[in-house]
Amino acid sequence: MSSKSNFKNVKGTRDILPLESIRWQRVENVVRKKMEQYNFQEIRFPTFEYTDLFRKSTGESTDIVRKEMFTFADMGGRSLALKPEGTPSVVRMFLQYGFFTKGILQKFYYIERMFRQERPQKGRYREFRQFGAEVIGSSSAETDVELVKSAFDIFNELDIKGVELNINSIGCPKCRKNFIKELKGFLKGKLVSLCEDCRRRYDENPMRILDCKEDKGKIKGAPVPSDFLCDDCRAHFEEFENRLDFFNIKFNIENRLVRGLDYYTKTVFEFVNANLGSQNEVGGGGRYDELIKFMGGEDTPASGYAVGIDRLMLLLPEKEEKLGVDVYLVTFDEESDLEGGKILASLRQEGFSCDKDPMKRSVKAQFREADRQNAKWVIIIGENERKRGIVQLKNMNKGEQKEIPMEADKIVKELKC
Ligand code: HAM
Repeated sequence: MSSKSNFKNVKGTRDILPLESIRWQRVENVVRKKMEQYNFQEIRFPTFEYTDLFRKSTGESTDIVRKEMFTFADMGGRSLALKPEGTPSVVRMFLQYGFFTKGILQKFYYIERMFRQERPQKGRYREFRQFGAEVIGSSSAETDVELVKSAFDIFNELDIKGVELNINSIGCPKCRKNFIKELKGFLKGKLVSLCEDCRRRYDENPMRILDCKEDKGKIKGAPVPSDFLCDDCRAHFEEFENRLDFFNIKFNIENRLVRGLDYYTKTVFEFVNANLGSQNEVGGGGRYDELIKFMGGEDTPASGYAVGIDRLMLLLPEKEEKLGVDVYLVTFDEESDLEGGKILASLRQEGFSCDKDPMKRSVKAQFREADRQNAKWVIIIGENERKRGIVQLKNMNKGEQKEIPMEADKIVKELKC
């Protein structure tokens, strides 16, 4: 039946219908289970924050802050923004609730909606969901490997194949200084031929020019951060590689991978899958050792990642997923309907999903509904059954029907057989 309504969901947002919801639940359950196996604690944060939080942490020069945030003013005229990513809120919470204790690690995870005003296409939405993990307080490469491993555990458990890991080190502020000087020198003569964004990046964040898709061909031979790593950053990256090897996690070193957010230091990584087409990045992350201090906290190393669940869903293998109830009630008269309703209440207490027709429709219509709902069992009650103190219990898969005393515990026993 087509509707005459002209209302549609907003471009770039997604409606998730009941059958698809079962697939989402499957993913969310695996994320929670795995994250908890790694001892990450769940946190949830607001849909919007003060815009300044993202300006300062995600970074003024990033595409997210420059052109993708949904911002609006509250009644007091303060600028608020729908959260485009999770790391700034996690850091804010870490600082706001005094989580810092020297030498103590905080391991958080989240499953949250994010908002970015990008041009919608397959795999790219204006409202999307991420799961993410952040470890605050550890500077070790082991932590970076643990994060990567937790993501692969989730992909594997969901039977998602073909995810590749790209890694790089973009160094610390100390070694980056030399790199940026060299890079700017290299780019200077080419500036006029670069895209408008890259010409702006030259002053604001020249490193980002390295991963510009448009200018890729024009900057061949450009210096890359890994050529300038200090001893500490180099040793850190080597340990990261060695530990990935130790766990048999395959990776590609992408020396132009710099990621689009301003806070990264040392290790950066991304998970890509060729089956996703142009939006092939399933997830990404890295170390942000300077951010917490920059946001007003103590000098605290940190590392994390996020995976786009909407993109993950595009890779999730089909399983035979069906909507359905365990038990559907079919009754012949009002009194049987009342009695049956009581039985359903007891069955629900025992954990069975149950339903019945609230509209006093014919027995035929009730059976049709039981079929539509994929009921595993149907309980049938009429005057005859009431007089005899029984119900008819029909196993819909086998087509068999049995008489059972009209007592919830006897019915439960039969259902559990
Ligand atoms: P990000 O790379 O901006 O990193 O986003 C992570 C993932 O979110 C992407 O790899 C992609 O799968 C998904 N994603 C991003 N934009 C969209 C979109 N418009 N539609 C659908 N999916 C999208 C971060 O957000 C960092 N906070 C990750 C991190 C955590 N780094 C350290 N800790």
